[in-house]
Amino acid sequence: MSGFTADRLLLFGATGDLSKRMLLPSLRALEIDGLIDPKLEIVCTARSDLDDLSFRNMAREALEKYLPPDRRGSLATFLNRITFQPLDATDPNGFAALAQKVGTPQQGLAIFLSTAPSLFEPSIAGLKQSGLAGPLSRIGLEKPLGTDLSSSCHINDAVAAAFSEDRTFRIDHYLGKETVQNLLALRFANIMFEPLWNAAHIDHVQITVGETVGLEGRAGFYDGAGAMRDMVQNHMLQLLALVAMEPPVSYEATSVRDEKVKVLRSMRKASAEEIVTGQYRAGAMGREAVPGYDEELGRYSETETFVAIKAHIDNWRWKGVPFYLRTGKRLPQRTTEITVQFRSVPHSIFSGRGARTIPNRLTIGIQPSENIRLSMMAKVPGLDRGGIALRSVPLDIAMPNAFAGPQKRIAYERLLLDLIEGDQTLFVRRDEVEAQWEWVDSVRAVWTEAGITPRTYTAGTWGPSAAIALTERDGVTWSE
Ligand code: BG6
Repeated sequence: MSGFTADRLLLFGATGDLSKRMLLPSLRALEIDGLIDPKLEIVCTARSDLDDLSFRNMAREALEKYLPPDRRGSLATFLNRITFQPLDATDPNGFAALAQKVGTPQQGLAIFLSTAPSLFEPSIAGLKQSGLAGPLSRIGLEKPLGTDLSSSCHINDAVAAAFSEDRTFRIDHYLGKETVQNLLALRFANIMFEPLWNAAHIDHVQITVGETVGLEGRAGFYDGAGAMRDMVQNHMLQLLALVAMEPPVSYEATSVRDEKVKVLRSMRKASAEEIVTGQYRAGAMGREAVPGYDEELGRYSETETFVAIKAHIDNWRWKGVPFYLRTGKRLPQRTTEITVQFRSVPHSIFSGRGARTIPNRLTIGIQPSENIRLSMMAKVPGLDRGGIALRSVPLDIAMPNAFAGPQKRIAYERLLLDLIEGDQTLFVRRDEVEAQWEWVDSVRAVWTEAGITPRTYTAGTWGPSAAIALTERDGVTWSE
């Protein structure tokens, strides 16, 4: 951790969905727990022509809608921290009034930028020109940060012209999820996994991020992005990097990010046979009939709402171990899960007695259930007159049971607090983002060259059948 704890927070995009659903509720939750300084002032900005009072009313409604009553309490003190300044970010002249509203922080300023991509550069330029980007300011950047390597570099350059890298906090909200951080504890606070965590003992890894939602009214953004850029480029590659990285020297920003970037740079360009894309058609989610992507959009589109990839990490530890990645909208379950499939025992002493050994499997459930499950072979109790019977049984840790006390937190609570306090460990460094884009661009180039267009799948199913074939031809079944 370095530098200052901010005593002022400036939220761009404050009338937007993320602000209402996540940022304001997270800040209130932090306040309730006494985790933010009573003196922290929150300046909100957006294009809407609101004053302090009308914005506070909007904020109150959002908090009442998105925070459970026991995490809400009396909102008056919280709302009194908030002021609002309307801003058209494309007009450089508007920033002087914003700077005036922000005033002079005693300790420092934390800025959270969550705006449309087209407003990124003018916002950064306006912050710089109005003196809001000085050495006692840091900035948190919400995705999307570009649509490919070159546009991402362009944005990163614009940011770097105003904020040094140690004051730039790129957000991947998956890193704020407790179970994602727990992956590091599982790997590096236990002796028993690390010696086996390599190609000699692991057959393959699967990472699934399934969503039940469809377009959710986000056509403008989503149709230009698709699953590969919306989910794989960031969240899934971060999960992969945490699973695959070497042990960092310490749990500290530079060490952790140094190790992640090495993994990301070792990723092999996938071949056309290793990629499946899909787009959902009308189907049913539970009992509810839902329209297809093209119907929701109102036109034909080649945007993928599903992608499955057999990825490879070309380094010593992972040579020959496929990482199967899969994500999609309108899948049957909302689930984020990592499966580590171990190899078979080298020799089964039980085979002569008719018993079959099933290789161990470690499943890390990230959401909705937070659990760690290790399948182990055990002997079925009995006198074994017809031979020995073995069965795979789970060692199951449900995190909410193991830690019944601690409050379940929104990922943004953690990220906002770290932004205010200046801890970059859970934020993505420029070289990581660029390595992510480099690989994503290479995959997209392959599918363009090979003329791969999305195969259709029925909403409520696990994607196109080709995604099943992708693993089955290696003798692997997706974990469901
Ligand atoms: C966002 C994507 O980054 O992550 C969305 O833009 C997606 O399309 C969301 O729905 C998923 O986040 P979570 O936390 O609900 O898994």
